[in-house]
Amino acid sequence: MGKLFIPGPVDVDDEVLAAQTQAMLPHRSAEFEEMFRRCEAGLRTVFFTEQRVFITASSGTGLHEAAVRNLANSRVLSCVNGAFGARWQQVAETNGKATDVLETDWGQPITPELVSEALGKQEYEILLVVHNETSTGLVNPVREIAAAARAASPETLICVDAVSSLSGDRLEMDAWGLDMVLTSSQKALALPPGLGFAAVNDRAMQRAESVENRGWYFDFLRLEKHRLKDSTPATPAISLIYALDLQLKRILAEGLEARFARHAAMAELVQGWALEKGLALYAPEGYRSKTVTTIDNQLEIDVAALNAFLKERGMRIANGYGPLKNKTFRIGHMGELGLADIEELLSAFEDFLAPSK
Ligand SMILES: Cc1ncc(COP(=O)(O)O)c(C=O)c1O
Repeated sequence: MGKLFIPGPVDVDDEVLAAQTQAMLPHRSAEFEEMFRRCEAGLRTVFFTEQRVFITASSGTGLHEAAVRNLANSRVLSCVNGAFGARWQQVAETNGKATDVLETDWGQPITPELVSEALGKQEYEILLVVHNETSTGLVNPVREIAAAARAASPETLICVDAVSSLSGDRLEMDAWGLDMVLTSSQKALALPPGLGFAAVNDRAMQRAESVENRGWYFDFLRLEKHRLKDSTPATPAISLIYALDLQLKRILAEGLEARFARHAAMAELVQGWALEKGLALYAPEGYRSKTVTTIDNQLEIDVAALNAFLKERGMRIANGYGPLKNKTFRIGHMGELGLADIEELLSAFEDFLAPSK
C-alpha cells in the first residue's frame, strides 16, 4: 500500500481497517451500547471536554449543517479565510440563516481584534471559525479568538471546525471556552471517512431548545436523548465504530501530548525543508499548521508530474485547493505518519527536482 501525504483521507492502520470486518451487532444491544459509551468517553478526552460528544454517520460537513441548524434562529457571523470557512458560510446561507462574513485574505489569520470589532457592531447568535484551514495550511488562533468573542459578546456561541486538527494539534474545548467543536474521522484521527464527531456544551444544548426547524437527522435534542442511552436515533455506522473503538485506544496509548509533539516535529521538518530550498510557505510564521503544509509553487513545478513520480514510489501529495491549484501544493503530515515517512517523501521530492543527482 502507498503512503498518503494528503490532508485527508489519510492512511489507516491495518489493524484498525481490519476491525471493521467484525460481525454486525444489533445497535440496540448491551454490547453495542458498551462500545458506544467507551467511544464517547475516549472522544471526550481527545476534545479536552467533560461535555457530551455526538457521533454521527456523516462526514464533517454534516456537522457544519448541524451547527447552524441547532444553534441559530437567524444571525450568524462566519469567519472566512479559506475554502472550508467559505463552505461553512454557504451552509449557513443555504439553511436560510442571515449570515455576515468576517473575511481576511486567505494568507492571513482571522484575528481576535477583528472578531471583537465585528461582534461589537452587531449581535450574532453564533460565531463560526475554522481552526486549521486545510486549504491553506493556516491555523487561526482559536483560543484568543474565543476569549475575545466571549468578552465582546458573551451570548454568542463559539463553534469551531477542527476537522483537520483534532488530535494533531492542541485544541482544548472546555479550557478555551468553546461551545461546539466538530471534526471528521478521516483526518488526524486516522480513521476511514464516514463518521462525524461534535462536542457540544450545555450552553449550546440550551440554545438548541429555543431554535426552530432544527431538522431531524442532526437535531441535538434528539441525538442527546439517544446518547443518554448510549446510542443514536438512526442506525449508526457500526463497522466504523468498531474501527473508532480500536483507534481511540491506540491514540490514548500514544498519548495526546506525544501525538501533538509528533505532528509538530513533522511540520517542522517539512516547513524547514521548504524554507531551506528557498520555497515560500503560504501561511505566515506563527500561524502554520501542524498537520498540513501549503508551499508556494514559485518553481512552477508540474504538480501532476510530481505526483506521478511520487506515485511510482508509493507516495502522493496534494495539489493546491480551489483557486490555489498549481499555485501551491500541500503536504499532509497527520494521522499515522512519522518523521521517517516525511524524510522518505522529501528525499523522493529532491530526486524529482534534481533527477541527475
Ligand atoms: C477544515 C475542513 N473543514 C471541513 C471539511 C469538510 O469535511 P468532510 O469532507 O468530512 O465533510 C474539510 C475537508 O477536507 C476540512 O478540511
